[in-house]
Formats: sequence, structure tokens, C-alpha cells
Amino acid sequence: MSYNLLKGKRGIIFGALDENSIAWKTAERAHEEGASFVLTNAPVALRMGTINKLAEQTNSEVIPADATKVEDLENLVEKAQEILGGKIDFVLHSIGMSVNVRKGKHYTDQNYDWTHKGLDISAMSFHKVMQVLHKKEAMNEWGSIVALTYMAAQRVFPDYNDMADNKAYLESVARSFGYFFGKDKKVRVNTISQSPTPTSAGQGVKGFTGFMNYADKMSPLGNATALECADYTITLFSDLTKKVTLQNLFHDGGFSNMGVSQEVIEAMED
Ligand SMILES: NC(=O)c1ccc[n+]([C@@H]2O[C@H](COP(=O)([O-])OP(=O)(O)OC[C@H]3O[C@@H](n4cnc5c(N)ncnc54)[C@H](O)[C@@H]3O)[C@@H](O)[C@H]2O)c1
Repeated sequence: MSYNLLKGKRGIIFGALDENSIAWKTAERAHEEGASFVLTNAPVALRMGTINKLAEQTNSEVIPADATKVEDLENLVEKAQEILGGKIDFVLHSIGMSVNVRKGKHYTDQNYDWTHKGLDISAMSFHKVMQVLHKKEAMNEWGSIVALTYMAAQRVFPDYNDMADNKAYLESVARSFGYFFGKDKKVRVNTISQSPTPTSAGQGVKGFTGFMNYADKMSPLGNATALECADYTITLFSDLTKKVTLQNLFHDGGFSNMGVSQEVIEAMED
């Protein structure tokens, strides 16, 4: 269903890797809601080629950018404004990667070069994106910036490894930069804390299926899907949420406020 919520709005969407990506679903929904946008991903991810299908489908261009490289981001923000014909109204940061997780390094035995790289990609990149947008005065007033996060920033999920620390940093950057973006440009900045979702990044977490099923059984509404996350993100890009800022918004079927559910109690009984 389409409500024309983003009619005339211009955006930048980071992180669509394949059809399962939360950013992919968000691009499809933003297109349906009347937005125009550019898609971007790291050059190595673009080589897989699937993003071109999304670009065609949503009538958008793809601009490569490694989100850890400020010069790539400067180029992206300039080109996006040229292509879209004006300043930007919404930005989705949907980027995450831990080298320690990928290479099976335990949290108590980190390779710090990898920890550093993961932090740069997953968290500091959000600061870099916003600093470039801010310096270049590229955002329209009442624009909206959203990054995706996970509840391991607040609570312990042992196999989430160093991504938990990256998400804590990311959420803090949203508040700290959100203050200046709000004061200086009337732009809002929020993070959405999403349920476990079967994507490429999600499935990298050890024991992901058990983790996902547990969350589903704990949540009164069940896990939120990638498409439902896209829908929620669209509301934050729309003019219906203009005074929501500096928030970490749980989109998790109620999981974050649960102690235990009947299903989990029953599963534990012998
Ligand atoms: N899947 C889950 O369970 C879940 C839950 C909560 C939050 N999230 C978050 O949602 C976001 C999107 O992840 P997803 O689940 O859609 O998985 P995904 O693997 O589809 O997306 C991750 C994206 O990050 C991109 N990326 C990696 N390094 C990059 C770099 N240097 N520059 C630019 N882009 C880079 C990848 O190419 C990919 O497109 C991430 O921040 C993730 O942590 C995911």
C-alpha cells in the first residue's frame, strides 16, 4: 500500500546488498511512497552486481562509496545533490560488519586491528556521513537521518561479539550529532533497534537461528521483518514524525520490554 508519504523527497540509501537487506526493502518502499534517491554501497559490495536490479526497479542511480572514507562520502553527497536536483531530505545508514565475527574470533580474544576496522565501518562511518552532510549543508530543513542498530548495545548477547560495542557507539553518535543537526539545521537523527532479521549481516552471528527463534517466542507481536522495518523507517522519513529526534526506537515486536513469555517458560520445563 502506498500513501505518498515521501512525495518530492530526495534521499541517500546506504547498505542494499541483496533482496534480503533492510536497505533494499526500504528503497522499494521509499520508491512506492514517491521519493527519489541514490543508492550507495562499498565498491566491493557493488561488484556482486545485484544492486543494479534494485536501481533499475526504483529508477535510481548507484554511487560507490566506502563509508569509512571521507573523500568517498564527499563525492557521494555532491553527486547525489546533482543527480537529484537539490538538497537531501532523508538518509538511511544501514551498514554493519565485524571482522572478528566474520573470522570467528571470540570476544575475549580480539584481533584489535579487526576490532578497529569493524568500529570504523559499523559506527564511526555514521559520524563521517553526518559530518560530511553537515559541512556541505546538504540536508534540507526538517530532513531525517536514520541508522539501524541492535539491542546488544544495552543488554548482553554473548555471540554478538564486538558489534555490541559498535552499536553502543553508533547510538551515542546519533544523540551527540543529532543535537547539533537539530540546533543548526532542524534535521532529526534517530536509530531504529530492529529484531534479529535473516540478512547477510544477521546470519553472520553465531547461532543466529536459535537467537532469532528465541526473540520471536519472547515478543508478544513476534519478530519484526525487514519489510516491517522498512515501513517504520518510511514513517521516520515522512513529515509525520518531525519532532522525533535523538531517540533509539525499538522495532522488535515488544521484545525489549519482556522479562519472559509463556512459550519460553514452557520450552524450559522438562
Ligand atoms: N539483520 C539483523 O538481524 C539486524 C538486526 C538489527 C540491526 N541490524 C542492522 O541493520 C543494518 C543493515 O544490515 P542488514 O541486516 O540489512 O544486512 P546486509 O548485510 O544486507 O547489510 C549490511 C550492509 O553494510 C554494507 N557495508 C559493509 N561495509 C561497508 C563499507 N565499508 N561502506 C559501505 N557499506 C558497507 C554491506 O555491503 C551491506 O550492504 C546493519 O547496521 C545491521 O547491524 C541488523
